[in-house]
Amino acid sequence: MSEISASQSATQDNTPITVLGLGHIGLPTALGLAELGRQVIGADDDARKVGLIRGGDPTFYEPGLAELLAKHLKSGKFQPVDDVAAAVRAGSIIFICVGTPQKANGQADLGQVEAVAQVVARNLNGYKLLVEKSTVPAITAQWLKRTIVRYNSGKASPGPGSAPVAGTIAFDVASNPEFLREGKALEDFLHPNRIVCGVESEHARDLLVNLYSPLKCPVVITNTSTAELIKHAANAFLSMKISFINMVSDLCEKVGADVSAVARGIGLDNRIGPQFLDAGIGYGGYCFPKDLRAFIHLAEEHGVDFSLLQEVEHINQSRVEMFVGKVRQAIWNLRGKTLGVLGLAFKAGTDDIREAVSLKIIETLREEGSILRLYDPQAIPNTQRVIPASEQISYCTSAYEVAQGAHALLLLTEWEEFRQLDLARLRGAMEVPVLVDGRNLYDPEAVHKAGFEYFSVGRGESKPAGTHTTTGTAVK
Ligand code: UDX
Repeated sequence: MSEISASQSATQDNTPITVLGLGHIGLPTALGLAELGRQVIGADDDARKVGLIRGGDPTFYEPGLAELLAKHLKSGKFQPVDDVAAAVRAGSIIFICVGTPQKANGQADLGQVEAVAQVVARNLNGYKLLVEKSTVPAITAQWLKRTIVRYNSGKASPGPGSAPVAGTIAFDVASNPEFLREGKALEDFLHPNRIVCGVESEHARDLLVNLYSPLKCPVVITNTSTAELIKHAANAFLSMKISFINMVSDLCEKVGADVSAVARGIGLDNRIGPQFLDAGIGYGGYCFPKDLRAFIHLAEEHGVDFSLLQEVEHINQSRVEMFVGKVRQAIWNLRGKTLGVLGLAFKAGTDDIREAVSLKIIETLREEGSILRLYDPQAIPNTQRVIPASEQISYCTSAYEVAQGAHALLLLTEWEEFRQLDLARLRGAMEVPVLVDGRNLYDPEAVHKAGFEYFSVGRGESKPAGTHTTTGTAVK
């Protein structure tokens, strides 16, 4: 492994770039590359999606994405197409951003990745660098290489050195994992902490370093398996941090401690760091749950006992019952009670509800016979597709509407809009002023002052005596 600065790169080239897959990773990546000044072809075999993107609709909510899409459709630097084979032929650097969903056993399903490799093999009309962006298990790059050689009828010649053997066409495979957070995808693309390039030839290394040369951050150069592992290890470690603080929060409740202050107290240690220490209802989303399971599966496959990660997952799954238990503790029986739900998206800044803990909580409360009034600033259309309105479920247009006649309000997503709510107005609309906060969004004192009975996570119901808040508050 070596580390170099992106600015040490050789001359910027104008190699056309193809991005395969225009979802939550592919579209921000394609537009980010266009923003770096490159000519980008974005391909997806979903013609309807491509049509919408061409018309300026990103097809999902991500802050700043619609604006950047408009900008680069106009500049001509981004060209969305539905002919994947033609897009492969046109590009020299090809980013794989297709889905890697999970199989029933937790293993990553690499069917779409293999399909892309086959298309590349059949359209290898000159040197190409095939780059994995999607999260894939270690040694996938080796499978990509084999697949390209196999489906190219022996005419393809893989690195090292990317020099073609007589009569063959050279190609390289690289791993350049994405670390984009939904809701902050463009910020993360344009201002990364680091860029990881797993390569097998100097040529591939130079192409990637050149590509990212406008970005000022450390570039970690390594082999492909190491780069693949870095991605899984990063997500597993962050998931572990969340499950850790969630267990600490349970303990805080038992001994009268405040988990926000504990997180601050440990997070100020540089070796620990302050991020990903927010206790709450647990992690969700398309990446953490799926990637953790795939990593556990990979360890099992190779005979490595990584039961630590099984426990991380187990703790996370238990957060649904933890939260529902809090609601019971707050209002006693759930059947027939009207509950206002603030937040459906798996986190703020997105309309994504995949593996959202909020939906699991709603499902449990529905089964218990509660009447649920739901609101989210962005995620209602996606939620309506999986939880249709019914006698028990209704959708509202604002937090204040949700509060009408409710026996309790449940805060499940930490949207800034919810932080700014007029608590007295909310309270006035409710049947019973109970607030159960699954994200520790509010200052307990302010909520009490507004006349609520307040239940949060790992903080007790009021500020512990003697908490000193001169630099950074002990509660949010
Ligand atoms: C994650 C990784 O952060 C990103 O690098 C990777 O490329 C894709 O997966 P994302 O899924 O968008 O990004 O969300 P993230 O911000 O990481 O949050 C994941 C989940 O953890 C959310 O449900 C969030 O609410 C929860 N979380 C996060 C906590 O419960 N506590 C925290 O302190 C942080």
